[in-house]
Amino acid sequence: MTHNDLIMRPIAGREEIDLFRRLPYVLNGELADDLDSGHRRPEWMWMALRGDRLVARLAWWAPREDGPPFMLDVLDLDDAAREPERLDIGLRLLQTAMATVLPAGTHPPEYSRFVPSRWRDDGSARRVVEDRVAVLERAGARPLVERLRLEWCPGTPVPEPGGRLSFRPADDREELVELMTLVLAGTLDAHSRADLARMPAARVAAGQYDGELALYRSPRDWWRIAMTSGGRPAGFVVPAHNGHNPIIAYIGVLPAHRGNGYVDDLLAEGTRILARQGVPRIRASMDVGNVPMARAFQRAGYVDFQHEINMTWS
Ligand SMILES: CC(C)(COP(=O)(O)OP(=O)(O)OC[C@H]1O[C@@H](n2cnc3c(N)ncnc32)[C@H](O)[C@@H]1OP(=O)(O)O)[C@@H](O)C(=O)NCCC(=O)NCCS
Repeated sequence: MTHNDLIMRPIAGREEIDLFRRLPYVLNGELADDLDSGHRRPEWMWMALRGDRLVARLAWWAPREDGPPFMLDVLDLDDAAREPERLDIGLRLLQTAMATVLPAGTHPPEYSRFVPSRWRDDGSARRVVEDRVAVLERAGARPLVERLRLEWCPGTPVPEPGGRLSFRPADDREELVELMTLVLAGTLDAHSRADLARMPAARVAAGQYDGELALYRSPRDWWRIAMTSGGRPAGFVVPAHNGHNPIIAYIGVLPAHRGNGYVDDLLAEGTRILARQGVPRIRASMDVGNVPMARAFQRAGYVDFQHEINMTWS
């Protein structure tokens, strides 16, 4: 599609990945692998070109190889270009690509942007973030939440098991979905709260299991249920590998057992399971507002290395 001297089109195929990568972003190193593994498709990776100059780009990603676009996780502008053109081109590219790629009448996938932790304190980082937020807002999206991205590195000590909880693998999908349903009570997580406003907890938990946990290719016997000395489940931890990084995918303490610091035991157990595999790092993310969770990760030596901004269409 041509607007004046601007061409807007998806990449022709893997051979155009270097052209697509001409704008900087932290996901550039993963794009080729994602194309090879089917988590991205050339027709989901759009460019705005002026001659051979890349002036804006965007891409969707999917957790399932054969699934529909799930997240808009790349949206870049030519940050050296002048206003208002800088934002206008981004908006036109976004509107054109959305109209072409997303089936009419469907809910647009969520937007995700990794940002420096202290992006508000740095004028140029702040403008990069605010420009993208402005483009998304002009296309109808609204900020949902800012999330912390934390990292644990080998060598950081992991506390020995305290002995007050014992751990065993999860029996099956049914057991974990049942515990995940209970854990949703009083959750501080914005995505979960938004889902709970639309459907019952059991469906939210089943969606989290089937749409995320079940897709990890790492061994299921890493997943642990924590048992009290009385033989009752107190919570669970789901260590996994998401294809790019080892992660603590989910931790939950059942409402009846909250406030005892069990989260520390669960996190130590999950960290130990991954550390035993000799992993180079462990990552985790949570809402900035999920303070009990963030504090537990910080106590366990996880360090804030980046934030993520999520925006959604209502
Ligand atoms: C976040 C969570 C794992 C913390 O587990 P926990 O073992 O209760 O953690 P702590 O014992 O450290 O308590 C944390 C805080 O919870 C609050 N709390 C205490 N008792 C509580 C209770 N009965 N119910 C709810 N919250 C309670 C307190 O503010 C406490 O902080 P304090 O240090 O001031 O006492 C747990 O609340 C949970 O499962 N939440 C829902 C799931 C979730 O958000 N998972 C993370 C998604 S990434």
